[in-house]
Amino acid sequence: MLDDASSQVILSATAGPLPAGSAGAVRALADRAAAADGVPPLSEQPLLWLSAPEAPVVHLHATVGGALVGYAQLDVGTQSSTKAELVVDPEHRRTGVGRALLTRALAETSVVPGRTLRVWAHGDLPAARRFAEDQGMAVVRELLQMRVDLTTRPASTPALPTGVTVRAFEPGRDEDAWRRVNSRAFAHHPEQGRMTSADLRARESEPWFDPAGFLLAERDGILLGSVWTKVHPAGEHGADPVGEIYVVGVDPDAQGLGLGRALTALGLNHLAARGLGAAILYTGAENTVAVHTYERAGFVRSAVDVMFGSDTPSSPAGVTMGA
Ligand SMILES: CC(C)(COP(=O)(O)OP(=O)(O)OC[C@H]1O[C@@H](n2cnc3c(N)ncnc32)[C@H](O)[C@@H]1OP(=O)(O)O)[C@@H](O)C(=O)NCCC(=O)NCCS
Repeated sequence: MLDDASSQVILSATAGPLPAGSAGAVRALADRAAAADGVPPLSEQPLLWLSAPEAPVVHLHATVGGALVGYAQLDVGTQSSTKAELVVDPEHRRTGVGRALLTRALAETSVVPGRTLRVWAHGDLPAARRFAEDQGMAVVRELLQMRVDLTTRPASTPALPTGVTVRAFEPGRDEDAWRRVNSRAFAHHPEQGRMTSADLRARESEPWFDPAGFLLAERDGILLGSVWTKVHPAGEHGADPVGEIYVVGVDPDAQGLGLGRALTALGLNHLAARGLGAAILYTGAENTVAVHTYERAGFVRSAVDVMFGSDTPSSPAGVTMGA
């Protein structure tokens, strides 16, 4: 542990949007960790929530001598569990910063009786595994990253169910219908089904947003499903830009017609036409139907994110917080 006052770890918790300087310090910390670990420690949603006014989050900052050395973001937007992502500066690891952040995250979680803590570890790094095990946490969910080579994929125009037409998303017009179908399609999905209009607006304001790559399938003017694609610039997922099938959702009333498969193919066609050599997507490992659909479209598993949790609800008495 650290012994003099200048190297003492100080923890603080804040709610609400971070001032620009603090948000920038978190992004810089995440970049340093990504460079050291080969995988970004914070996913898209926590990065968007750094400065979002309505974000349902608590920010935990760990500083040493005023410098940010660790950060955790707690998503407290659901009753049953707090979801956390946390990162420690590579220069300050194995000094107890991670354990201190996790202990504080458990304390924040136990404010709501019965609520459990869940922590995402991107890339399933050995250090994260040992760290979580050390805290008595086990793997409770896995998110697969899948990848397809677009240069060797045969181009094809998928058949659409009778009467179904496809057009691009129109900002300012299609938000409500899209959110309605999205929440129906992802009713049982812990994160995707919760997308608020503020979350959607935040994504529409991102530099990568392109309505031409956001396709809606309709019948008689009624939205049945959509595929939303995204392009990651060079450096985010390897040396070249990479496309992503960002969200595919089909209304439960229109499932089983082959729309999911057709929309995925249209999304890939769009990305291939933009000259991208590969596309990725993320899906729950337990969602065997989705994994099977994507494998048939040529995707193979390329990485995994792991969520750790303890089975017992978090309470100061009920969880081992480390030595
Ligand atoms: C995982 C991470 C948060 C750990 O942070 P940290 O400040 O180094 O962790 P601590 O110093 O508090 O370590 C607590 C215990 O975790 C275990 N641990 C942490 N890193 C480890 C490693 N590289 N190898 C083996 N065990 C490790 C040890 O049991 C350690 O106790 P010890 O140092 O007394 O042996 C940090 O490596 C990190 O930021 N990784 C990238 C982001 C990430 O994976 N986040 C998800 C975490 S679930």
